[in-house]
Amino acid sequence: MAGVTDLAFRLMSRRFGAPQCFYEMFDSKAMVNEHPKNRRLMKTHKKDTPIAAQMLGADPSIMLDAVERLLGLINISFLDINSACPAGKIIRKGAGAALLNDTARLGKIINRLASKLTVPVTVKLRTGFDKRDIKRCVEMAKVCQANGASTLFIHGRTVAQGYSGDIDYESIRAVKEAIEIPVFGSGNIFNPFMAKKMLDETGCDGILVARGALGNPWIFKDIEGFLKDGRAVKDRSLSVKKRALKRHLAYIVKYKDMRDGNKIGFMGKVTMWYLKGLYHAKRARERISGVRTYKELIYLIDRVQDRAGPGLHFVP
Ligand SMILES: Cc1cc2nc3c(=O)[nH]c(=O)nc-3n(C[C@H](O)[C@H](O)[C@H](O)COP(=O)(O)O)c2cc1C
Repeated sequence: MAGVTDLAFRLMSRRFGAPQCFYEMFDSKAMVNEHPKNRRLMKTHKKDTPIAAQMLGADPSIMLDAVERLLGLINISFLDINSACPAGKIIRKGAGAALLNDTARLGKIINRLASKLTVPVTVKLRTGFDKRDIKRCVEMAKVCQANGASTLFIHGRTVAQGYSGDIDYESIRAVKEAIEIPVFGSGNIFNPFMAKKMLDETGCDGILVARGALGNPWIFKDIEGFLKDGRAVKDRSLSVKKRALKRHLAYIVKYKDMRDGNKIGFMGKVTMWYLKGLYHAKRARERISGVRTYKELIYLIDRVQDRAGPGLHFVP
C-alpha cells in the first residue's frame, strides 16, 4: 500500500506472521530519472525478506529500464505490475487501472518484462473498470497469462467502486477456474473469517491483506491460526496495543527518512490506526493532531487508559 507499507510497517507485519511483503509502489519514470524518493522507498533490512516490488507505468521500454535499475539496487522475489490503481492522476497517464481498458498495452508490458527479466512477473488487477463484466475480466486474465504473468492478484472491485462496496467473489472464481497460474484474492480481508470467505468463495490460491493490517499487525497470525485449526481470535488489550504501537513508532523514528514535521504527522496517523475504537476517538484525534514532538506523542499514548464503562477513555 502506497504511503503505508514502509519498512516500519513491514517489520511489524513480519513480526506477527506476514509471510511476504511488498515495498511501496514505485513509478517507472521516477526510477529511470533517478528520483531520490526511490532510495527512500526501497529502504530495507535483513529481516525484511521475502519482499516484492510493485511498479506503475505505461511504457514497456521505460518499465524494463526501471526494473533493471531497481535490480541493481535490491533483490526482490518477484515484480508486480500495477493495473489496479484508481487515482485520477495515474489513470490520466495511462498507468494503473487505465491498463484495464487497454489490455493490448498491458499484454505488451507483461510480455516485455517477463521475457527479459529473471524474476517472476505478476499483475495486480481489479475485476473491471466501470461495471461488472465477468467475461471481460476472464479475458483480461487470459491475456496476462498468455503474455507470461506468473501469478495474478485481483482486487474484487471495479475502479468505479473505489474502496467500498461488495466484493465480487464470482469474478475472481471465474478467473481462477479459467486459468492455470495462481490467483490471489484481495478485498475486505479485515479478519480471519473474511480471509476464509475469500478462499471458500473463490477457490483462490492465496490472499492479500491490505487495510485489515492497519493498526492490527496480529491479523497475519490470526488468519493462519484460524485457517489451520479454527483457533478463535483474542481481542488484544489496550496495553498490548500500546506496546505494539510504541514499537511501530520507534521503527519509524529509526528508519523513516522524512522531515521532522511530516514525520510527527505521519506518526499521529499510525497512532490512530492502533487506537481505533477509542471511546473518545474524536477528542483523541484532535489531541494527537496537535502534537509537535515524539516525546509528547508517547506521553499522550501513555495517558490513554482503559476505564470501566463503554469503550476506552483518553485521560486528559
Ligand atoms: C492507502 C492505500 C494504499 C494502497 N496502495 C496500493 C498500492 O500501492 N498498490 C496496490 O496494488 N494496491 C494498493 N491498495 C489497494 C490494496 O492493496 C487492496 O487491494 C485494497 O485496499 C482492497 O483490499 P482491502 O479491502 O482488504 O483493503 C491500497 C489501498 C489503500 C487503502
